[in-house]
Amino acid sequence: MAQTQYRLADVQARNGKLGAPIWIVYKDSVYDVTSYVDQHPGGNDAIIAEAGTDATSAFQDVGHSDDATTILAKYKIGEIVEEEKKYDANGKKKKKVVAAKDEGTGRSCLNTVTCGLLG
Ligand code: HEM
Repeated sequence: MAQTQYRLADVQARNGKLGAPIWIVYKDSVYDVTSYVDQHPGGNDAIIAEAGTDATSAFQDVGHSDDATTILAKYKIGEIVEEEKKYDANGKKKKKVVAAKDEGTGRSCLNTVTCGLLG
């Protein structure tokens, strides 16, 4: 069955404030951890601080165990819509597309001169 799709803006609204639920994003999946926060061994404040955001790096930076990832999986409610995903189908971080509007600016000219000198 297809996963429920959410936008980052949908997640942002679930930031735990004023009685809102607590959703986080981890690697393009969306989790409703409202009922988990008070069981969190790292304290509820650690998760509340990430409520409504992409908590991927916060979760990874702590060095959570495999158990923590298994627990997290139980709270999955869906995925981020394709166009807002940050990871490709292999779980690798997508490269950012360089905006074309940067071309032709003074900085680009400077880069061309610098590259010319160096190259
Ligand atoms: C929302 C999903 C999360 C789950 C399911 C989860 C689960 C766990 C579990 C099971 C532990 C015990 C140690 C381990 O097994 O790694 C733990 C510890 C910890 N977590 Fe999380 N965690 C979550 C999110 C976060 C976030 C967003 C932060 C913020 C940075 C955080 C910070 C910590 C800290 C600091 C500890 C260490 C606590 C200690 O050793 O006293 N966790 N977490």
